[in-house]
Amino acid sequence: MNPGLKDEKMKKDLIDITDLTTEEIDELIAVAEDIVKTPEKYSEVMRHRKIATLFYEPSTRTRFSFESAMLDLGGSVIGFSSPTECSVSKGESVADTARTAACFADVIAMRHFKDGAAFVAASNVDIPVINAGDGGHMHPTQTLTDLFTIHMEKGGFDNLTVGLCGDLKYGRTVHSLIAAMARYKGVKFILISPDELKIPEAVKTDILEAQKLDYIETDNLEEVMPQLDVLYMTRIQQERFRDQASYERLRDVYILDNKKLESAKPDMCILHPLPRVNEIAVEVDEDPRAAYFRQVRNGKFVRMALIMKLIAAYDSAKEKGETLEKPSQDNAEEFPKNILRCGNSRCISGIEQGLKPLFKKTESGYRCIYCDTKGTRNG
Ligand code: CP
Repeated sequence: MNPGLKDEKMKKDLIDITDLTTEEIDELIAVAEDIVKTPEKYSEVMRHRKIATLFYEPSTRTRFSFESAMLDLGGSVIGFSSPTECSVSKGESVADTARTAACFADVIAMRHFKDGAAFVAASNVDIPVINAGDGGHMHPTQTLTDLFTIHMEKGGFDNLTVGLCGDLKYGRTVHSLIAAMARYKGVKFILISPDELKIPEAVKTDILEAQKLDYIETDNLEEVMPQLDVLYMTRIQQERFRDQASYERLRDVYILDNKKLESAKPDMCILHPLPRVNEIAVEVDEDPRAAYFRQVRNGKFVRMALIMKLIAAYDSAKEKGETLEKPSQDNAEEFPKNILRCGNSRCISGIEQGLKPLFKKTESGYRCIYCDTKGTRNG
């Protein structure tokens, strides 16, 4: 067993932050805190274990932090940082690439440009798969990083007013952070974005409204600044726009600078998943409230805790002769494409060979099991 981790049953994979219970998140944060204090205690726990980092899309922080997390645990790393470096460039599917990585590694961290890709990988292998970002969908380890940073900066989560600013439509880190923070008492969300980049309906109906959370939407950052305990800035995601003109119009819609911060609380904490382009002026970096580079550093510690926890759960199940469950396809229904199809052009179901178009029934209609988008009926 690994130091500091309970030998309890958990999901095999981390695809969506909701795969973790609140107790599991709290445990990962506690272990990450302990790693910060006593890194030597953890320096050999993953000896002879490997992580495969399968990155189909560019990354600096996520890949570096997964790789240094495994190295600092005494393990090693295989993988690719671009699909051009491996047989993906010959047309190999996500499922086959994941199956191949699972022949050599103990855990997979996957970033892909299509929504739902990590779900497909996890469904095809027995070892744990960690979603390191799937298209504009989810980025749960960024959320763990964000939560750990908020915990370190603010001492907890209850009763915080969290402003999320910028690209709330394509900013996958925002969707996961809302799902996670929604579990804590008295959290209020202020969603700051232009109309074109508002939070997706699915996040609104399935999380904010379903859980009767306190939230408002606005396009005015200055007006709400004095209320905020946490300001989470995001980049306008150029790579997700279909037309360049819309991106150019919206790219500099919010620029946080020292002048705008004059009305903020003295202990407000400024986060950003990074990379930033222009949305936080460089002058803000000197402000003690700017926590975004501390946030980058924190990403390694919480990923160390996560790798240990997933591998411990996998080992424990294996010792007992059990298999951990793959992502749930319970109650999923298959429809012919001419009846119902995924309405999301960025969904993995549009490109992955042999993938069944599966949908789950929800209160707001049928949703694609890979990317959560509403099915589009034909005719
Ligand atoms: N925050 C984040 O995901 O950064 P990278 O794209 O550099 O990994």
